[in-house]
Amino acid sequence: MSGVAGLVGSHLADALIEAGHDVVGCDNLTGGYLDNVAGQVEFHECDVVDLESMVKITRGCELVYHCAATAYEGLSVFSPHFVTKNIVQASVSLITAAISNGAGRFVFCSSMARYGTQDRVPFTEDMMPQPQDPYGIAKYSVELLLRNLCQVHGMEYVVVVPHNIIGPRQKYDDPYRSVASIMINLMLQSRQPIIYGDGTQKRCFSFVQDVVDPLVKVGTSAGLSGEIINLGPDDDFITINELAAKIAQIIEFDLDPLYVSARPQEVHLANCSADKARALLDYAPRVDLESGLRSMVGYIQAKGVKPFEYQAELEITTSMTPRTWKDRLF
Ligand SMILES: NC(=O)c1ccc[n+]([C@@H]2O[C@H](COP(=O)([O-])OP(=O)(O)OC[C@H]3O[C@@H](n4cnc5c(N)ncnc54)[C@H](O)[C@@H]3O)[C@@H](O)[C@H]2O)c1
Repeated sequence: MSGVAGLVGSHLADALIEAGHDVVGCDNLTGGYLDNVAGQVEFHECDVVDLESMVKITRGCELVYHCAATAYEGLSVFSPHFVTKNIVQASVSLITAAISNGAGRFVFCSSMARYGTQDRVPFTEDMMPQPQDPYGIAKYSVELLLRNLCQVHGMEYVVVVPHNIIGPRQKYDDPYRSVASIMINLMLQSRQPIIYGDGTQKRCFSFVQDVVDPLVKVGTSAGLSGEIINLGPDDDFITINELAAKIAQIIEFDLDPLYVSARPQEVHLANCSADKARALLDYAPRVDLESGLRSMVGYIQAKGVKPFEYQAELEITTSMTPRTWKDRLF
């Protein structure tokens, strides 16, 4: 599994170990925490882009989950080289390694960014992808590469399309992504959250365990090869303003957000239909948004708030670059 120190990868590794599987995982620790990785994982600190390492660590693996990514949608128009390298090139390395070692199935975590702006929401898997930033374009490119290589070489594959996952273990000191974690880290430091645009953009949020359970099924159930499946709830569609208000209520914080210019290419309405996941995977989320946010607040309180780290470099700085990043406002 790639990305085993990240939010999804670390919880997925726990679930697979619990189910009796042996897990080999890798991560370069740019977006995850080492203490997320369970002791039973055979862990390799390495870069997925490096084909030789991927060939070594996937030897003997029957099932490969590809969870590693630089999941920076907003940043991707300003740091396209960094973001796409860790999605396209990294994925090609892992797919190549898996095929060359005779793996049976490859599960790729794509993203709702593949859909871009569509005529209607919720997005359904039969819609023609229209990604509108390098992150979404990279994810969709990987889907095409995966399909092509699997068709030629006969490896089974499934594409899952998660959206806006929250939960403990998510990196919360990264200024470029994960709106709920950023807001909690700020409010716990008695700092006001920063909202791009007017905050009326709408999203649905999934608790990580509600993504992990279907992901285990996707890897281990027969007959899903070639499917693309959205993974996330299609109710509880809320605005970013409402999200901030919910977090403030949990923390008992006096909310007065700072509004800054909208980010270029941000999709206004984005949520996915869960009909296919319900039909194929009995998808039924169990953790509501408020409980999910409460457990994140508990996690960040226990670990301690942190200053934000500007690890990713801005490759393009123009008048459109958000001042939150240019002027390091977080
Ligand atoms: N979290 C979300 O809201 C969300 C939404 C849609 C899709 N996804 C996708 O789901 C997957 C898992 O997301 P997540 O929330 O766990 O992200 P995450 O950032 O928590 O975990 C990804 C992990 O990949 C690692 N990584 C990145 N580039 C790497 C490289 N070149 N080599 C080795 N390791 C590398 C990071 O260090 C990190 O630990 C990603 O593919 C992401 O694009 C996530």
